[in-house]
Parts: sequence; structure tokens; C-alpha cells
Amino acid sequence: MAGEKKFSELIINWYQVNKRALPWRKTSDPYKIWLSEIILQQTRVNQGLPYYLNFIEKYPTVFDLAAASEQEVLRLWQGLGYYSRARNLHSCSKTIVEIHKGLFPSNYSALLKLKGIGSYTAAAIASFAFAEAVPVVDGNVFRVLARHFGIDKDISTAAGKEFFFKKASECIPPQQPAVFNQAIMEFGALNCTPQNPRCDDCVLKKSCVAFKEGNQSLFPVKTKKASVRTRYFYYFVIKIGSRFLMRERGPKDIWQGLYDFYLIEAKRPTNVTKLAKSDTLLADLTVGKPSKPYKHILSHQHLFARFIPVEVESTNRKFINLANCGFNFYAQNQVDELPKPVLVSRYLADINFFTKL
Ligand code: ADE
Repeated sequence: MAGEKKFSELIINWYQVNKRALPWRKTSDPYKIWLSEIILQQTRVNQGLPYYLNFIEKYPTVFDLAAASEQEVLRLWQGLGYYSRARNLHSCSKTIVEIHKGLFPSNYSALLKLKGIGSYTAAAIASFAFAEAVPVVDGNVFRVLARHFGIDKDISTAAGKEFFFKKASECIPPQQPAVFNQAIMEFGALNCTPQNPRCDDCVLKKSCVAFKEGNQSLFPVKTKKASVRTRYFYYFVIKIGSRFLMRERGPKDIWQGLYDFYLIEAKRPTNVTKLAKSDTLLADLTVGKPSKPYKHILSHQHLFARFIPVEVESTNRKFINLANCGFNFYAQNQVDELPKPVLVSRYLADINFFTKL
């Protein structure tokens, strides 16, 4: 255990000198900590920070968030991706208000029962807000522990994850769980980075197994890589009179609650005119010039999208009937306000669609 104690001391000392001043580190309000951790999952601090500040300004308490509409929350989340996180965030705020009278449960196992709160987030809230000695284990923590202690357990398996959780639990100083958890994450983010770790002036280099063996890049071990699916989206931006046809994406969809245009998906790059001719809705229309391809990378998918403007007479019955299939017509300023996938917003920004930015 001596090694673990020394490790914690060194990493905490390093943190006190090198930490970034981040707003969620200055609070013990579980609401703010929860919000920051949900935003920071899979998002870099620089990208997440403005979102955090916007959310706190608009919803200073869990009551304000719970009182908002889901559409408004999704609009504020727009650009962060993983929209189920925003929906869970909103749903969880309602549970906290309705079931817990606005107070967050104050321990790890009670926090775990809430929607969208997994072991990482529960540990972050429990340690940062309530000083419970439970470790946060995220990608940074896997990497720092694996390299320093030379752990070759596979982090894509449940047994491997469990091993790291135990190791981190052994390292956590019972009197300083919050600062240790912040410190190890910060160390992973700033010093023990995935590529080109700063080993030369590292405070842990004397005891670091990977440094000694010169195999830092092999840790942590992860055998199962997610396979990536490539998809081709053809968005027909249908304008009828002065309004645009859009649809809210339905349940069990990565973009549930967001709005997009009339979409034809193809397995491979496809000729747009042919595609339109084979579609009952578009067959007799003249379609405009397709946009450049827009690439959008998600964790398991690479999307390539093109946008094709289509103008339709406002008397066309075929389109009026589409309202029954979830489509609606929106004026330009409404399109502006609706929550949309970033892919769609990027295109609209490029054609100077937005009236205000
Ligand atoms: N990434 C995830 N949680 C974080 C935190 N609390 N501080 C900095 N980066 C983080």
C-alpha cells in the first residue's frame, strides 16, 4: 500500500500547483457538479465550458431546469452530441424535484439509482459534493493507473474495469477523496496524455512502470474497438411557399427530439436525381443542386450528408398530407429556434439561412 499512498501524495501535490481554475471546482453544489460532469462526459473542457456557463445562467437551480421544456433544453445542448444525455439530464431534474424535493441524494449508491447517472457520475457527485471516498474512473484515470502501476488488464471487459475501480479505491486518501479524484483526472488530461505524455518533467516518473519500460503508448489495454458504420444521408430541404418541411426525430433515435428535413438514406454515394425519381414524394419535382458533402463523426458512425433544396407550390396536396406522418411546416425563424442536429445547423449556417446568430 506504500506505493499507492506515495502515488496519491505526489499526484495531489502536482494538482495543487498545476490545476486549471474551472468553475465547477469552486462549488460543492451537487446540482452544478452533476451538470458539469454530464456535459464533460466525452467532451473536452474547452468545448464543454461555454455550455456549462449557459446552462447555469439559464437554469441556476435544479428547479429551473425541471421547469424548462425538453425542447428548450435540447436547443441549449445543441452541438454537444449524445442527445440522450440531455434528455436524461432533464428527466432526472424532474425526479429530483418531484421525488426528492429538489435535494440530491447524498451518497454513491442512492445517486446510482437516478436516470443517466452511472458509476462515474455518481462517484463524482458523491466525492466532490459529499466527500465520500469513492473513486471516479474515466478514460484519464484508466490511463494514469495503467501506466503508473503497469496494469495490463483489459478495460473493455467488466473484470478489467472492476480491477481498476479496486486499484483506484486503494489509492484514494479517505480524508481527501474530492481533491484526489480531481487530481488524477487533471493529471491524465494535462500530463499523462494519450499521445506524447510529458514524461520528462513528470513527478511520477521514478515510480512509473510504463516509463521504466518505455511502453506508455501500450496502456491502457483495450481489445474491443467499436466498429464504425458509414451512412449516406440525402436531405431534401423542401420549401413550400415560404415555409420549410421538418420532422421531429422519434423515440430510440440518437437524435430523438431534434428536428431535421426529409431524409433518404442510401448505403453508398448515390446519384441525387435518380434517388429523387425513385421516391414517391419527390418523383415529379425538380430538385435543386446538391450541397457539398458534410461529414459528421459520431462514436460508432460516420455520416456523409448532402442537402438538396426543393421548391414546391403551396397548393400541392401531396405535401399538405405529410403532416399526418410527423412532418410540419415551419417559418424560417421557427427553423432557427428548433433544436437540430449540428450537421443540419452547419449546412444552414453555410447558406446564411439564420436570421440571427
Ligand atoms: N472531465 C470530467 N470531469 C472533469 C472535471 N471535474 N474537471 C475537469 N475535467 C473533467
